[in-house]
Amino acid sequence: MSELREQVMAALSTVIEPELHRDIVSLNMVRDLSIEGTTARFTIVLTTPACPLKNVFQERCHQAIIGKVPGITHLDIHWDAQVPTDRRMIGRLDVPMRSIIAVASGKGGVGKSTVATNLAVALAEASARVGLIDGDILNPNLPTMMGLAHGHPKVVDGKMMPLEAYGVKIMSTGFLTSPDKPMILRGPMLHSAIRQLFTDVNWGDLDYMIVDLPPGTGDAPLSLAQSFPLTGVIIVTQPQDVAVSDALRSVAMFETLNVPVLGIVENMAGEFFGEGGGERLAQERGVPFLGRIPLEAEVRKGGDLGRPIVVAAPDSPAGRAFQQLAQTTAARISVVMLQSADVIPLNIIG
Ligand SMILES: Nc1ncnc2c1ncn2[C@@H]1O[C@H](COP(=O)(O)OP(=O)(O)O)[C@@H](O)[C@H]1O
Ligand SMILES: [Mg+2]
Repeated sequence: MSELREQVMAALSTVIEPELHRDIVSLNMVRDLSIEGTTARFTIVLTTPACPLKNVFQERCHQAIIGKVPGITHLDIHWDAQVPTDRRMIGRLDVPMRSIIAVASGKGGVGKSTVATNLAVALAEASARVGLIDGDILNPNLPTMMGLAHGHPKVVDGKMMPLEAYGVKIMSTGFLTSPDKPMILRGPMLHSAIRQLFTDVNWGDLDYMIVDLPPGTGDAPLSLAQSFPLTGVIIVTQPQDVAVSDALRSVAMFETLNVPVLGIVENMAGEFFGEGGGERLAQERGVPFLGRIPLEAEVRKGGDLGRPIVVAAPDSPAGRAFQQLAQTTAARISVVMLQSADVIPLNIIG
């Protein structure tokens, strides 16, 4: 019995994780292996619940075991996920955030907040624990875009509780001001306002903290990158040349700050702005192209009505494009994290 178990384990250790290029046993992704009659039952712990590779794992496990390990004719695979922890986070924040992902753009209006909200919701729908910070302190849009325009955070034990929509925990300075009392913050105050959105809020355990940054290469990205270890940044651009050259500056800035560029998202692709500029930029800079979101009126309506397109119309082309983007981005986050010496891999946590 236990010999059979060992044979199955040995067979599984020939299954290679396609993006990390290591076998799933030494990555400690295989748990709770048991044999019942001719069935091998085990759990595969993925590095993200939004993993696009489940089918690939399933197929590779079958190929490795069925017909190779005598006595096993069936597999009963269960799935679980543990997002790796960025080690630099520990001690810096008193809440266990596993990763911080910034969403940035070279200029305003390209759809950064739209990408941040839909990405957050899509990850939450894949059952990741997701927080969303409105880093656009002076021009907070997220309350409206997430349907929380009249939200006010409760304070419990001296900390603000984040508001929640579509499974995502959200904090924005928009919850703390009223339209007739706009925020006037500069320099150091801006800096501390961004910090406080992390530290003065009771976030609880999070797999992904997504930060919607203000546009451009101003103070905010700099101050964020200096205050917190950023796991990576996603750069959003429109397809046309003028937007792409702004995005290029943004990529260069984050590279200078040593923040890994997770990749580029091309938003509003279609007849109006054209298509392909984001992908070209990614190729030229040698960074991944994460996906293309079409220009669709429904996307804007979703934002205006506080119902992101991934929930309002998940089967529309843009809805599907955002789901795909979430998977691609989550996989890319796993790769960047597990390649970093600063990350606590699966085998130490949980
Ligand atoms: N793919 C898209 N199709 C149609 N409208 C979009 C799309 N992406 C964003 N928008 C709209 O464009 C405007 C600017 O987007 P927003 O996300 O607020 O940009 P940013 O945060 O970069 O300033 C918003 O009205 C938004 O609803
Ligand atoms: Mg915005």
